[in-house]
Amino acid sequence: MPNIVVIGTQWGDEGKGRIVDILSEKVDVVARYQGGNNAGHTIIVDGKTTVLHHIPSGILRQDKISIIGNGVVIDPKFLLEEIDGLRKSGYPVSSANFKISDRTHVIMPYHKLMDKARESQMGNNKIGTTGRGIGPVYEDKVARRGIRVSDLLYPDYFADRLKSIINQKNIYLKNVLGIEPLDFEHIFDDYIEYGKKLNPFITDTSLLLYDLVKQNKAILFEGAQGVMLDVDFGTYPYVTSSNSGAGGVCSGTGISPKIIDTIVGISKAYTTRVGEGPFPSEIKDGFGEVLRKMGNEYGATTGRPRRCGWFDTVSVSYSIKISGISSLMLTKLDVLSDLQTIKICTGYKYKDQVLKDFPSNPNVLSSCKPVYEEVPGWRSELSDINDPSDLPQNLMNYLGKLEDILETQISLISIGPSREQFITLKNGLLN
Ligand code: GDP
Ligand code: IMO
Ligand code: MG
Repeated sequence: MPNIVVIGTQWGDEGKGRIVDILSEKVDVVARYQGGNNAGHTIIVDGKTTVLHHIPSGILRQDKISIIGNGVVIDPKFLLEEIDGLRKSGYPVSSANFKISDRTHVIMPYHKLMDKARESQMGNNKIGTTGRGIGPVYEDKVARRGIRVSDLLYPDYFADRLKSIINQKNIYLKNVLGIEPLDFEHIFDDYIEYGKKLNPFITDTSLLLYDLVKQNKAILFEGAQGVMLDVDFGTYPYVTSSNSGAGGVCSGTGISPKIIDTIVGISKAYTTRVGEGPFPSEIKDGFGEVLRKMGNEYGATTGRPRRCGWFDTVSVSYSIKISGISSLMLTKLDVLSDLQTIKICTGYKYKDQVLKDFPSNPNVLSSCKPVYEEVPGWRSELSDINDPSDLPQNLMNYLGKLEDILETQISLISIGPSREQFITLKNGLLN
């Protein structure tokens, strides 16, 4: 198996977790490289649903090594609960199959308070974050006042660092956000305890990956969020605070770009978005709500209703180009099965032009109106189909149309949320 990167091409929730679960059967290692517990990756195996937030989706397969790379941010209490939940569901998590980079930054209580308070103060300009402290922890990482998970293993060093950081944070929390100051002792005691519990998993995962590559082990890099939420290439400022595109893999794990063999993009057969920000192909009439119900589009992390729209080739094409995606895997085709016609957004009308390239400016983007092509639906049940030759012709036409516009092959489709509900169309792991 080649070393693969799997990334979302839209605004997250494309079904990355369930595709990684399928692909991970054939790799040795699954590594997350960015994001934190803002992610929610759903996998259904034998009728049992698991939602993973920090831990790579390979953890459901016992013989795989799951790695949290240095580019990920962790909420230690939440992560310990996630480990506990997996163990209770019968999925072993041990120092043999789960590793955390010693350089991983830690979400502190003030990060979560700052995230929520800023969002509520921004009113109409809010981003609609998950409230998990993601923006503030990445800010602190870049500002060089972050806490890394290995800091928790050295009490004197951690105490010294935390004291000076808490002093600064308390001034900000009290005077700018109007929040009660935090107590050093309390946070120190809690985080030292989390450090002790996480210690068995903490290691230099960049060196571990180097060794695994040398042993010819196959590695899958699991993206969180999607390219449209990437801090550089997404719909800034309505994005997350990390590089969710393929560019984040090397800085988020410490591997060389030379070891990546192929990059696979995951798209939903339509589009969803949680939180604020421009979304040109959003369905604003009552049908948006109907699609939400048909697709059960509620956030796996926050439970918020997802905004729903048609497949947008302008944004997905951009994601393909900037991430070097060589094949697409398309999820949730079954959700469209009852529709008489299906729309595909093929361009954006902006003033008197039709844009085919994704605009970078949010002001331009929010004035864009979608240009649609309509194709007939297939109006038949898909969930029991195993053989690609049994797929309805109109579905094949829909896929063919997307392939033509995106100039990228669709190698796999999923037709239901369970592990076995997918159909391979082509070898998607070739370069
Ligand atoms: P991720 O964040 O990209 O891993 O995606 P989420 O887990 O947040 O959201 C995807 C949702 O769609 C989950 O509820 C999955 O169980 C579900 N899902 C994934 N693939 C399919 C599919 O082919 N059909 C249907 N009906 N549901 C799917
Ligand atoms: P997965 O990995 C969908 C969105 C939030 C918000 C913006 C910023 O499950 O696809 P943040 O808390 O990161 O500062 O929020 O990004 N967002 C996601 N939307 N899926 C996700 O992850 C997301 N992670 C963050 O809703 O709009
Ligand atoms: Mg999700």
